[in-house]
Amino acid sequence: MVDSLETFTQQDFLYFAAQIEDWYFQNKRELPWRDIKDPYRIWISEIILQQTRVVQGYDYYLRFIDRFPSVEDLAKADEDEVLKLWQGLGYYSRARNLYSAAKSIVERGEFPTNYKEIRMLKGVGDYTAAAIASFAYNLPYAVVDGNVYRVLARYWGITAPIDTTKGKKLFASLAQDLLDKKNPAQYNQALMDFGALQCVPNSPNCNECPLQENCVAFLETSVSSLPVKSKKTAIRTRFLVYLYIRCGNRILLHRRERGDIWQGLYEPLLIEFSEPADLPLIIQKVNLPKESAFRLAVKGMKHVLTHQVLIVDCYEVDLTEFTTIEKYSFIPEKERGNYPASKLVEQLYEAIDNLK
Ligand code: ADE
Ligand code: SF4
Repeated sequence: MVDSLETFTQQDFLYFAAQIEDWYFQNKRELPWRDIKDPYRIWISEIILQQTRVVQGYDYYLRFIDRFPSVEDLAKADEDEVLKLWQGLGYYSRARNLYSAAKSIVERGEFPTNYKEIRMLKGVGDYTAAAIASFAYNLPYAVVDGNVYRVLARYWGITAPIDTTKGKKLFASLAQDLLDKKNPAQYNQALMDFGALQCVPNSPNCNECPLQENCVAFLETSVSSLPVKSKKTAIRTRFLVYLYIRCGNRILLHRRERGDIWQGLYEPLLIEFSEPADLPLIIQKVNLPKESAFRLAVKGMKHVLTHQVLIVDCYEVDLTEFTTIEKYSFIPEKERGNYPASKLVEQLYEAIDNLK
């Protein structure tokens, strides 16, 4: 195991890159955003793939490009429509940032052509800037994402934690040293595919791996303990109760605001508790007409997000008389589908529809 790069030679680096690219020639995935040079499409694909696996993001990418073939089309769209196309993908700030960056690109007149300016686009971090700069313009910037951390940590036997400043610097520096400066686009794609298909997180098939002979983790049987993370992120549990309030043929929705998950998406009346809540407690907390009828649609549904676990109940409530609630408005129930919603809320709608 090593925590400094000084023990490696230039020869080692060249050999690694050559092996990764050889592997790629034989195992490359054909993907619609590959082997194209349009920075707009590459940007869209990379934002979609930031927190989404290829199988899941594939159709979203095609629909997005079909509806917004150019950055101008995206910039002049309605934000609700952009979010609607994103619905189900999660991490909705990605869609909001895309939209806002599209406007700024159109304003400045062209897609930025160098790393520094690409990196300044809203929602674009080091990884995405390197991906766009290398794929679209063949500029020599090494991508470092979860796949790359894993492959490098294992092959080079690096135990520096990937979630510390020091570790991140070490990996970034190694990644840049390894980059095939003549073919940055191809090398970066190759390394990411190698991580996604061959050197996978759990039980990689090392026995059939062409890199096995020089892979420190394989040779020292430490594959399952690399890469190292210094801390586990705290998971917060939240208890959410949704009231699907109907009055005649209208339902009550609101648009979520800044500062929490799902900003900009629509949902029914939400009450949050610090522990599981029963109906009397819920009724006590909302100010609804006394005779309103509550029907349970969902109980204790677990919804897992990156740093939170949501435990969700949902009731259908038929109002006996009209009422108003600040920041919520009644919309025709049959137009519900026009309002972008989180995956969770879509599931609640399904449960409500099944009550009928
Ligand atoms: N994950 C992130 N970017 C990717 C890309 N360009 N190809 C395949 N998987 C990816
Ligand atoms: Fe990854 Fe195993 Fe190949 Fe090493 S031998 S690079 S751990 S798949």
